[in-house]
Amino acid sequence: MSEERIDVNPLHRRTGDARSVDKNRIPERSMDPLSAYHIVRDETMLDGNARLNLATFVTTWMDEEAQRLYADAFDKNMIDKDEYPQTAAIEGYCQRMIAELWHAPDPSSAPATSTVGSSEACMLAGIALKRRWQERRRSAGADAGTPNLVMSSAVQVCWEKFCNYFEVEPRYVPVSSEHPVLDGELLDAYVDENTIGVVAILGVTYTGAYEPVAEIQAALDAIEAERGLDVPIHVDAASGGMVAPFLDADLEWDFRLQRVASINTSGHKYGLVYPGLGWAVWRDEAALPESMVFRVSYLGGDMPTLALNFSRPGAQVLLQFYLFLRLGREGYTEVQAGSRAVAAYLAEGIGAMDAFELISDGTTIPVFAWRLADGHSGSWTLHDLSDRLRMRGWLVPAYPMPADLDQIVVQRIVIRNGVTMDLAESLLSTISEEVEFLEALDSPLPRSTTGDGFRH
Ligand SMILES: Cc1ncc(COP(=O)(O)O)c(C=O)c1O
Repeated sequence: MSEERIDVNPLHRRTGDARSVDKNRIPERSMDPLSAYHIVRDETMLDGNARLNLATFVTTWMDEEAQRLYADAFDKNMIDKDEYPQTAAIEGYCQRMIAELWHAPDPSSAPATSTVGSSEACMLAGIALKRRWQERRRSAGADAGTPNLVMSSAVQVCWEKFCNYFEVEPRYVPVSSEHPVLDGELLDAYVDENTIGVVAILGVTYTGAYEPVAEIQAALDAIEAERGLDVPIHVDAASGGMVAPFLDADLEWDFRLQRVASINTSGHKYGLVYPGLGWAVWRDEAALPESMVFRVSYLGGDMPTLALNFSRPGAQVLLQFYLFLRLGREGYTEVQAGSRAVAAYLAEGIGAMDAFELISDGTTIPVFAWRLADGHSGSWTLHDLSDRLRMRGWLVPAYPMPADLDQIVVQRIVIRNGVTMDLAESLLSTISEEVEFLEALDSPLPRSTTGDGFRH
């Protein structure tokens, strides 16, 4: 193990404290809490400025009342429903509110759970699809050994993980210039009797685009009519699940569509809560195999739970409830509309620059992406622009599109609550200055990073 050490600044060091500490070994002796506090704080000072991070979907700012609630609830363990019955009850209120928001036929009985994020929610939904398929196959006396899941090649990495960890063959429908999202047209070639379900994404991570869930359902209806295969849909609404209900109320993507068996969202994305919260909701009890539900002791009785984790913080669930009360439908609509307006403003400004071509325009979730315009002849790439913006404090990642479109590099901006029009104006002029700088180059800049590997 390396002997890397951190010096303790003499101004922070208290009597008897070490002059430096090993980064990789627990020290033999204790130290003054203030010294330890300063070491940790100073180490994290070099983390980026979250306000200027336009790469992440995850909430970076909540108001003071939320901070107070959070501090009041640091110690609450979500699994300990016996000790924290009110937190458990509040989880239930949130579940029913979300089930209603997504038009579950009976929100009061739709099975649901909070999770640490969308990834856990997607795993649970995937397992439910797999189990239901296995149960159907076994009761028909058919082989249940080779399940597959059909989805776009632009799915978030959590679906690759699900297939890997839970032994399901992933079937990726490639995105292409003609089919930039999974739209149902190619499904027929991918779906068979071993398909446990189809994933539709509401808010593709790379571009923000909504996959047309109703068209996917229509394609599956046609497959059922022709081949007798009844294939359910899971909607990965990690981002869109908290945007579409407020801004696109007429868009049918949720339980209004009969094939939609389950939906997930990230409370910590457009749910507007600090990191560590996701939600999964199933259409009805038939959509969730009873065998996945565990019983934990609750006020002398028992409480159904389903989760991959056991202990986890309960505070985020309280923050979600706080926000539902604090903002209401009206407030969520205003916040998301504000973010969408900022995204659309920036997209328009960037799209108007000669060097760029928009891939999406921020009119779905407040996220958009662009590429270098066809025939652009400068000696720079979007990775260079990303590096230049990073030097000015802005994090705007550049990365290749998924397989089959991976020769195209895009740059993406995610607008979250707190990125104001004012900040957007400042970013737009920074981009324009940096583009001017790059366009004036006669030869490529030396590269230290490739920017490949961006996964979220
Ligand atoms: C479409 C989609 N699904 C799932 C996830 C994973 O979400 P989480 O970070 O909440 O686990 C993301 C994250 O960006 C996403 O965009």
